[in-house]
Amino acid sequence: MKSTYTSTARLGLLVSSLASINAYTWPDPKTDFLEALYYQQNGNNAFQFGVLVKSCDFGDNLTPPGRKNSAEWIRTAYHDMATADVDAGTGGLDASIGFELDRPENTGKALTDTIKAFLPAMSSRSSMADLIALGAIMSVTACTINSKGPPQFIPFRGGRVDATSIGPAGVPQPQEDLATHTTSFKKQGFSQSEMIALVACGHSVGGVNGVDFPEIVDVVNDPNNGESKQSFDATVAALDNSVATQFLENSTQNALAFGHNETTRSDLRIFNSDGGDMIHKMAASNDFFISTCTNLLQRMVDTVPKDVKLTEPINAIPVKPDNIDIALDANGNMAITGDLRVSDGASDAEASTTDHDT
Ligand code: HEM
Ligand SMILES: *[C@@H]1O[C@H](CO)[C@@H](O)[C@H](O)[C@H]1NC(C)=O
Ligand SMILES: *[C@@H]1O[C@H](CO)[C@@H](O)[C@H](O)[C@H]1NC(C)=O
Repeated sequence: MKSTYTSTARLGLLVSSLASINAYTWPDPKTDFLEALYYQQNGNNAFQFGVLVKSCDFGDNLTPPGRKNSAEWIRTAYHDMATADVDAGTGGLDASIGFELDRPENTGKALTDTIKAFLPAMSSRSSMADLIALGAIMSVTACTINSKGPPQFIPFRGGRVDATSIGPAGVPQPQEDLATHTTSFKKQGFSQSEMIALVACGHSVGGVNGVDFPEIVDVVNDPNNGESKQSFDATVAALDNSVATQFLENSTQNALAFGHNETTRSDLRIFNSDGGDMIHKMAASNDFFISTCTNLLQRMVDTVPKDVKLTEPINAIPVKPDNIDIALDANGNMAITGDLRVSDGASDAEASTTDHDT
């Protein structure tokens, strides 16, 4: 035992001298693994958690074509959160959606496929709920790169706890009336104008799949669009304010605003519910749109049951031990080997240290 402490201390010294500008203390079981999942995307020891949203329009793994992982990941986070009751302090981002995929309010393969995509990264140090949050956050980054403004990085907090059983129903559906939607968003913690904005933010990417919602979008049998998807705006793979500008130009793009079925025009009812004030503001300024969206989407992923305490935002640490291995040889000598991750963006430094105390 004594030698373990000695060795660990040596390694700790090495790290803290290199990383003295950072207050982070390794190890931290609450955040170490989440930090790696988020920041080790490429190169040595990469987790590649974000590889499926390496661009906003990426969906190569999905058949039929037309689907986009980023849109599906953002929608999944919303559907998981949407049954929150913030006054009661229940629900929110708790991965309860995993038990709720059969419900009509969760129609479509997208939600199931999203959970499946996250399963390999799930562990005792990375709840499914944290992965759903991280997936949405990385999707927002992917969808703001090559968009109208700079890429957005919503702060990522960890510590979400997975539900162990099915939760209440209540994800908003397009055929419901405005009063039902307003009440539902209130329960989720969003005012009327926040409801308008959050729906516009979500419906800035992706669209409605005719195969899942034939009463909203016609099924067209196009081999290049196997889902018969109709995007919400012309920039299907960019989180930008086109959803708002095109709505106000009376464009026919958004099927939830201008689709042939009046009953399912929920975006139209919601966007007009304050007389058009919020959607006009969003259309007038992409900067306003983006800052409103990052703020509301952060609140969306940080909505958790009242007994859950989220960590501080998890930032990349500049120098971090990785893959530490401690072994005793036949003579009773202890050796510690491992990698030292140095974030200079270019290369991974390797370090090893051994100790011969017995
Ligand atoms: C009254 C509220 C809402 C209703 C009725 C609604 C309804 C829908 C419907 C019917 C679809 C088509 C899904 C499919 O075909 O797979 C859809 C897609 C989508 N929704 Fe919503 N939604 C609402 C709010 C939100 C919010 C608040 C967000 C996120 C902030 C969001 C994010 C998305 C995204 C990203 C898609 C595109 C999915 C894809 O392309 O695969 N929605 N929504
Ligand atoms: C419009 O949508 C409603 C609600 O989903 C559905 O009951 C109705 O059949 C649809 N109408 C048409 C013409 O598709
Ligand atoms: C859009 O449609 C509304 C309602 O039909 C109408 O009042 C408005 O003038 C139209 N705007 C444009 C730019 O065509």
